[in-house]
Amino acid sequence: MNMSDMISPLVKNIPPSGIRKFFDLVNEMKDAISLSIGEPDFVTPWTVREAGIYSLEKGHTHYSPNAGFMELRKEICNYLKRRYGLSYNPEKEVVVTVGGSEGIDIALRSLVSQGDEVIIPEPSFVSYKPCAVFTGATPVIINLRDEDEFRLTPELLEKAITDKTKVLILPFPNNPTGAIMTREDLEKIVEVIKNRDIIVISDEIYSELTYSGEHVSIASFPEMKDKTLVINGFSKAYAMTGWRLGYACGHPDLIEAMYKVHQYAIMCSPTTAQYAAVEALKNADDEVKSMVKEYNRRRRVLVDGFRDAGLDCFEPLGAFYVFPCIKSTGMSSSDFCEKLLIEEKVAVVPGTAFGDCGEGFVRVCYSRSMDNIIEAIKRIKRFVERNKN
Ligand SMILES: Cc1ncc(COP(=O)(O)O)c(C=O)c1O
Repeated sequence: MNMSDMISPLVKNIPPSGIRKFFDLVNEMKDAISLSIGEPDFVTPWTVREAGIYSLEKGHTHYSPNAGFMELRKEICNYLKRRYGLSYNPEKEVVVTVGGSEGIDIALRSLVSQGDEVIIPEPSFVSYKPCAVFTGATPVIINLRDEDEFRLTPELLEKAITDKTKVLILPFPNNPTGAIMTREDLEKIVEVIKNRDIIVISDEIYSELTYSGEHVSIASFPEMKDKTLVINGFSKAYAMTGWRLGYACGHPDLIEAMYKVHQYAIMCSPTTAQYAAVEALKNADDEVKSMVKEYNRRRRVLVDGFRDAGLDCFEPLGAFYVFPCIKSTGMSSSDFCEKLLIEEKVAVVPGTAFGDCGEGFVRVCYSRSMDNIIEAIKRIKRFVERNKN
């Protein structure tokens, strides 16, 4: 038997993540500065860690209810109301997931199958397309544009919609571009969607990390509430990537369907993480604020640094990424990243890892210490100067 022939073509035909090659290279280099990994450098706030430890001391080591502890679901609803004006019923409209990642997967599995189309604006997070493909549905890619600062426009959306469209993924604040959608941007998208049978999966995992006003959720538009599934989680805002906890909120029928998939595939999310997350939602606002303040300082240094180096860099207003344009160097994104790593030992990720329209750009993550960022930008300037076209 040839094992390779046994693998489902849906899985076999998915290329490996474009980021992987880079991580492998960086791992071999001891003294490289890595601005490549999209996770906070901060440790989870102490009070949150302590709540997790305390739950273990008390012996809370069992399964939780499938949808997550009711106390956590209530706190999630309080939080979404307090921060974004969203109202959800903790009994029927929330499911606690293993990170935002599981939320995206089970949402797509609950909504689409062969013959359906899923609209995915790119550049964007690497898992949307594979998760859509695993269901048998067809991803329809919208290539976002530099001149729109990588926001989704109603014109681009209109063009992508067909009578097979069932889902639009709305990935803002965006990984890898750092783009956000303002209320005015969203109003135009709402006009396109509101009278159509299309569900929006709004991935708001970076909602706390915005640097110009407050994040606006498309679910806060009354005509969109029932058509939107909000995905969020604890990884980015609370520096809790390793705890693996997220949640999805939306229409009770959709949550019921997702709950079914979650129940059979996962059973429940990690119990310790759920205890810690209750504490995060209740008592960690100040820690989140101070992390966001520090990200913002680093963001400014990087944007100014890239511009000083002579590279175009639009101002990213969310998440913890900048997405400078490297076209003026004449190198492809991939060549730029490889050469920068070899010559200056700085790791950034080719824009193409997040979609073909990322060609000519690189993703630079500023969830690293200010000292690292200052040293990295010094090396990048030197590299760009030396490699000017
Ligand atoms: C846009 C986006 N959504 C979702 C996730 C998944 O995060 P997690 O599963 O850790 O909650 C990530 C992680 O990088 C992301 O960048």
